[in-house]
Amino acid sequence: MLKLFDNGIHRVLVFRDLTPKGIVQTNQCLIIEKDKGVLIDPGGRVTFKALISKLSGEFPITRIEYILFTHQDPDVIGAVASWKIAIPRTKIVLPSVWMRFLPHMFPPDKGIEEDIVPIDDSGANIKLYETTLKIIPSHFLHSPGNFSVYDPVSKILFSGDIGASLIPSGQDYDFVEDFDAHVKYMESFHKRYMASNKACRKWVEEIKDIDVEIIVPQHGAVLKGRDIVERFLEWLSNLKCGVDLLQ
Ligand SMILES: [Fe+2]
Ligand SMILES: [Fe+2]
Repeated sequence: MLKLFDNGIHRVLVFRDLTPKGIVQTNQCLIIEKDKGVLIDPGGRVTFKALISKLSGEFPITRIEYILFTHQDPDVIGAVASWKIAIPRTKIVLPSVWMRFLPHMFPPDKGIEEDIVPIDDSGANIKLYETTLKIIPSHFLHSPGNFSVYDPVSKILFSGDIGASLIPSGQDYDFVEDFDAHVKYMESFHKRYMASNKACRKWVEEIKDIDVEIIVPQHGAVLKGRDIVERFLEWLSNLKCGVDLLQ
């Protein structure tokens, strides 16, 4: 577990080592403000039990007010039904365009509409006492309706699959130290899954006015420090991907 921020009232924890070997590694993130928590991209069924156990060692899971799902992939939302059983009061936050498909994850007699906070295409704010988490659109990176989450207290941007790296097992590292050497672990994923350079530039434009010290993607190493963040944004702005590469 990485503790990325702690000022006594506000904490940010990232769980990086819960994915079984041979399965795409996922990062699970918890923001805590006083006695309330927000869980971001909790992973699928393969991480569910391990995450519950690790979270419980840090924070009472019944105090998780929201679970934020940046998009609809199995490695993000695969355990949503189990989460609603484990912590029934929690609100499910997900892009509005995916809301209509969510009932497929639940038994047919389970009404869940009142438990959902749909995020419109323009984004939203989520309040945790005095802190306002910003839900920032990241459409088509890689999913329609995808969003990122910015925490202004820790200055951490939770970017979903943007900045994801697939590092060979046994060579994993928590933080990107050498950006040039790290690019090869991001490149093929972004070229294949991200929709287009236009979408990448739009997202970089969306976040250009916010103060980002750390980017935590849903997979792989954390991008920490303004230099590394800048290098990444420049790389992403210039990336040809998705339909740009369609022959
Ligand atoms: Fe994804
Ligand atoms: Fe992912």
